[in-house]
Amino acid sequence: ENLMKNFDVIVIGGGPGGYIAAIRAAQLGFNTACIDAWKNAKGAPAPGGTCTNVGCIPSKALLQSSEHFEHAAHGFAEHGVEVSGLKLNLAQMLKRKDEVVGQNNAGILFLFKKNKVSFFNGLGSFVAAKDGGYEIKVEGTEETLFAKYVVVATGSNARALPGVPFDEDRVLSNDGALRIPDVPKKLGVIGAGVIGLEMGSVWRRLGAEVTVLEGLPNFLGAVDETIAKEAHKLFTKQGLKISLGVKVGEIKTTKKGVTVNYTDNAGAAQVLECDRLIVSIGRTPNTHGLNTEAVGLKLDERGFIAVDDECRTNLPGVWAVGDVVRGPMLAHKAEEEGVAVAERIAGQHGHVNFNTIPWVIYTSPEIAWVGKTEQQLKAEGVAYKAGSFPFMANGRARALGDTTGMVKMLADAKTDEILGVHIIGPVASELISECVMAMEFKAASEDIARICHAHPTLSEAVKEAALAVDKRTLNF
Ligand code: FAD
Ligand code: NAI
Repeated sequence: ENLMKNFDVIVIGGGPGGYIAAIRAAQLGFNTACIDAWKNAKGAPAPGGTCTNVGCIPSKALLQSSEHFEHAAHGFAEHGVEVSGLKLNLAQMLKRKDEVVGQNNAGILFLFKKNKVSFFNGLGSFVAAKDGGYEIKVEGTEETLFAKYVVVATGSNARALPGVPFDEDRVLSNDGALRIPDVPKKLGVIGAGVIGLEMGSVWRRLGAEVTVLEGLPNFLGAVDETIAKEAHKLFTKQGLKISLGVKVGEIKTTKKGVTVNYTDNAGAAQVLECDRLIVSIGRTPNTHGLNTEAVGLKLDERGFIAVDDECRTNLPGVWAVGDVVRGPMLAHKAEEEGVAVAERIAGQHGHVNFNTIPWVIYTSPEIAWVGKTEQQLKAEGVAYKAGSFPFMANGRARALGDTTGMVKMLADAKTDEILGVHIIGPVASELISECVMAMEFKAASEDIARICHAHPTLSEAVKEAALAVDKRTLNF
């Protein structure tokens, strides 16, 4: 009994949803604990979740490193920078990636200290509902914690193909895909989604022959069709072999490699032999180990924790955020929900606008978008105007030597309110922020068209796309 520790708020999970919720709750004056199970290869606590350990951060580190390698091999010469004796040191590249991850883990531990969040490293599980609150056990310790409010932020795991478990040696989830010890000669990827394209790009740049098998007949179905078509063309030109509309059959793994039997879109039987196979077919919510039954925490039919629009579960005082609940599986969505929940617990009016959550695919060129696609507007019968501007006509892009892609803006035909912006091109990930802000303020395309943008910048392409909505681009 004397081992019971009392808190106001307990957050289970220390990914972007959980650690941010814990910090915000502490800022609001709550005595807050955060329990996170992740340990690094040395067995030390590694808060930050999927995003920090095997997601956003390490993937972006490898995307950056592999892009440097590709530029040195194929891009520098055009700038008059000649490289000889270019060599890949993969071990160093992976080591640097691990160091970047380590810096982020340490940063979060520092933030917990700074904000007086009590951190527990272990699996947290519900014991019982008691005295208007909840008892939570931390695995591997004698400790039982108690709080009136609980925020569940346990994230997600990679989904395996039925009968093909991840061994992280030949059959890789996002985890193994980020630490292949030697560049595979032939790399197979199942699923042409975000992970398949990002990780496929990394290993292709480093020299692998990459084949991507996608079940759906359309490439990047959720992306605006103009952009998806352009992306398909560019990725194919870069050397990614993308097969759409395939049906994956039997998969055999040996010590040396993987054989994937599949049917192509014409119905013909095909075989893909590869050294390693990344399976990136989506992710499943992680409620394993939470012991939801002990308190009757309700899941939905797909295994996510059931929540309302404001992240309330069926239990009083229990909230859930991030990948373990409905909505896009994105770190910034998890963070926004984490902040909003902490504020709601404090009686404030936390707010997440699901209509203005940006998406980014960190390939080269990057793909970024916010709001509705043109095909969505058509399907919804909304009258709209479209304007686009190619980076080819942007001075900064020419100076950079990266003129692929375009900005496409969609606005309401009557009110001119911006309904969506779709970008494929250099640093699209940064350019989209201006568009998110514009939509958040319900701006019209004319607002962006009349705002002074520095010259020469890539952001001028956003302004020109806004001008193009009214057919008055100045530079194209
Ligand atoms: P998670 O980050 O999964 O964190 C959950 C944490 O809870 C984990 O540390 C887990 O160990 C812990 N946990 C689980 N159960 C328990 C328990 N019972 N007790 C204690 N701890 C527990 N999103 C982006 O926005 N941008 C990107 O660039 C991006 N890149 C990605 C790249 C890859 C390869 C992958 C796989 C994902 C990527 N994502 C990206 C998605 C992003 O990682 C997730 O949306 C985000 O991590 C979700 O945050 P979360 O806090 O909900 O869960
Ligand atoms: P995804 O949902 O993006 O893509 C999965 C793809 O696999 C889809 O195209 C789907 O049609 C296909 N697929 C599913 N089952 C299949 C099968 N049996 N055979 C062939 N194809 C099949 O999922 P992914 O890439 O695994 O990533 C998971 C999530 O992680 C993403 O949805 C995203 O939310 C997040 N993420 C975000 C990133 C970012 O923001 N840049 C980067 C990486 C991941």
